Amino acid sequence: MTEQQSNRLKMRAVERFPMAMGGIHGIAHWGRVRENGLLLAKLIPGADRTVVEAFAWLHDCCRENDGHDPDHGKRAAEFARQLAEEPTVLSFLQTEQLEDLCSACEFHTAGQTTDHPTIGACWDADRLDLFRVGIRPKSELLNTEIARHPPVIHWAVERSRGLEMPVPEGIRTNPVVSSNKPC
Ligand SMILES: [Fe+2]
Ligand SMILES: [Fe+2]
Repeated sequence: MTEQQSNRLKMRAVERFPMAMGGIHGIAHWGRVRENGLLLAKLIPGADRTVVEAFAWLHDCCRENDGHDPDHGKRAAEFARQLAEEPTVLSFLQTEQLEDLCSACEFHTAGQTTDHPTIGACWDADRLDLFRVGIRPKSELLNTEIARHPPVIHWAVERSRGLEMPVPEGIRTNPVVSSNKPC
């Protein structure tokens, strides 16, 4: 996804979002999910960074409240399909990419896990930002080995707290994480 495509999609999500943009499900969260997701997509074999980036902007933009809103993922999937019909916003997605994006959006609310690399990266990118509401990401709910890596969780938690954090040394350059077990 080009920067222009990303910005265009972000603006559509902003226009669609019915709540205060500074809230816990607003644009700062989307931006951290994007950062988390782009790192994960770089390191997870088979993960599609375009889908992950689109997920970051769209997954919560159809929320109607910050509490119990179990259908917001389904609405986000419907919104993604609408955008894909337009000539510019998501029309660059291949059919399979759109289906992965819609599945990631629709089911991100259910707390389930997956071994699908792209959908796993999407959900982990979102779950890694849980500390913004005081919840430490749980290894057993993270789908991918790289997201369970303690320095990655630490990096995400500190950013969820509003701190600036560089990507952990070694993660940028070494995609191989030794442990395959939840930490
Ligand atoms: Fe959500
Ligand atoms: Fe989210």
